[in-house]
Amino acid sequence: MKIAVAGATGMLGSRVVDAVRAAGHEPVSISRGSGIDLMTGSGLAEALRGASAVVDASATSSTSAKKSTDFFSTVTRNLLAAERAAGVPHHVAVSIIGAAKVDANYYAGKAAQEKILTAAHEGGWSLLRTAQFHEFAKQLVGHGKVGPLQVVPSMRAQPVAAAEVAAELVTIAAGEPRGLGPDLAGPREERMADLVRRYLAATGQRRPVVEVSIPGAWGRGMRDGSLLPGPGARLGRQTFDEWLSEQLG
Ligand SMILES: NC(=O)c1ccc[n+]([C@@H]2O[C@H](COP(=O)([O-])OP(=O)(O)OC[C@H]3O[C@@H](n4cnc5c(N)ncnc54)[C@H](OP(=O)(O)O)[C@@H]3O)[C@@H](O)[C@H]2O)c1
Repeated sequence: MKIAVAGATGMLGSRVVDAVRAAGHEPVSISRGSGIDLMTGSGLAEALRGASAVVDASATSSTSAKKSTDFFSTVTRNLLAAERAAGVPHHVAVSIIGAAKVDANYYAGKAAQEKILTAAHEGGWSLLRTAQFHEFAKQLVGHGKVGPLQVVPSMRAQPVAAAEVAAELVTIAAGEPRGLGPDLAGPREERMADLVRRYLAATGQRRPVVEVSIPGAWGRGMRDGSLLPGPGARLGRQTFDEWLSEQLG
């Protein structure tokens, strides 16, 4: 089965490409480096020819509500239109647990993506909402260095390994479209600041971690448990510490 992966060079997308191969299917990589622009749609028709499913693992790095909404809306519309034209029967999207409810900043884009998918596309889609990835702690280390300090948002999360999310997306893509399925989170609740502390210690980086409350609805959603999985969620196996040991080994 040919499975196209939008965002194939990203943290999740590169793992989806590996998981497609591991499951015995053929990946088609979509990213700007391979000459395909999801914002303009250029190159998409060619890339989707003969595909049985598309896994959308693309993302913007912007945290602005306007830019995030523009990105996820445009990409979703362009992908759905190109899939219809190419006769691709299954679109698989990944979103974030609680993002549609919080609907602010980056999450406004995820809310818009979910709305377009569930409203405009009759059947032919699957949506998986997941928790933050273990890798998110590493991403925060890259972004939150302020002078000698490491600044981390005050955040409750139940992180999951991106590789487990990737494997789940491929299983979904290889099956029939199922609409919104159960959430996927990790095995235990954590505080993001603790994860960053553990990541810094394990990688030999010594700087104080300062937990800050992000103002507004986005920060409130991070703090108040909105991003935690509900009772019906499926839980991944790998803990953050197991993931961290794997990175170092
Ligand atoms: N990170 C998390 O903790 C987390 C948790 C839950 C859900 N998610 C969701 O998982 C998905 C992937 O996130 P990620 O963190 O893995 O993203 P990422 O590492 O930032 O990767 C983004 C990907 O999108 C591609 N891309 C961006 N703009 C493009 C364009 N105009 N045309 C073609 N490709 C474009 C990039 O490719 P090039 O730049 O090479 O073109 C890259 O492959 C997102 O939907 C995100 O909301 C993330």
